[in-house]
Amino acid sequence: MKIFKSIKTWQVERNKTSKTIGFVPTMGALHEGHLSLIKKSKKENKITIVSIFVNPTQFNDKKDLNNYPNTLEKDIKELKKMGTDYLIMPKYSEIYADNYTYKVSEDKLSKILCGSSRKGHFDGVLTIVMKLLNIAQADKAYFGEKDYQQYVLIKKMAETFFMKTKIIGCKTIKEKDGLAKSSRNLLLTEKERKLAPNFYKILKTKKSVPEKKKSLIKLGFKIDYIEKHDDRIFGAVKLGKVRLIDNVKI
Ligand code: PAF
Repeated sequence: MKIFKSIKTWQVERNKTSKTIGFVPTMGALHEGHLSLIKKSKKENKITIVSIFVNPTQFNDKKDLNNYPNTLEKDIKELKKMGTDYLIMPKYSEIYADNYTYKVSEDKLSKILCGSSRKGHFDGVLTIVMKLLNIAQADKAYFGEKDYQQYVLIKKMAETFFMKTKIIGCKTIKEKDGLAKSSRNLLLTEKERKLAPNFYKILKTKKSVPEKKKSLIKLGFKIDYIEKHDDRIFGAVKLGKVRLIDNVKI
């Protein structure tokens, strides 16, 4: 696996190949969810690129950014084992040479659900993903459907701006007990980890939205939102310091 920390050097390498490329952008702390995206990319493309960049502009809460898990050595080992061709780890100074004066924003879908409680979050996500897609110049890019709102916003952004990369949504990978795999699960205490699967269990019951909220609160979850949109129930809750999100198709 070749590792690139400089975008300029990567771009020289990128231009050497005309093979099909699949791209998996990540913020590191890789788990089976990420690995499933890499597996799919490897199946569908000749070359697979992964990026690791903890993007500060999408964190509305500094504490959340500072606490974000870092397992870089383990990630690199795992990526090599999976047969990843390239790892891109750009530096903040190169990615945000403009000091984040240029932004990509969306005015409708990005303002509800995660966007209503996390001000500026999706501007940060869309901006970094636009930059990473332009850097990778891949044929396809893979995103998990746990972050369903993020996936839809990115897919529509790529279509709206006539970008060459096709955005592929991939199903959420779960723990045996139903908890969606997430880098943030590493931050749960033992007690919180035991409680956490109830979030998904209650989300997928036939109960009404107010009843779901009541059941979650009773168990000790703090509700950010539980909302139905089209054919999905979306939820975000807090267990102690950890924010969990998930969604269920109904
Ligand atoms: O889902 C994530 O890990 C991040 O939001 C992404 C897409 C890598 C952008 O920083």
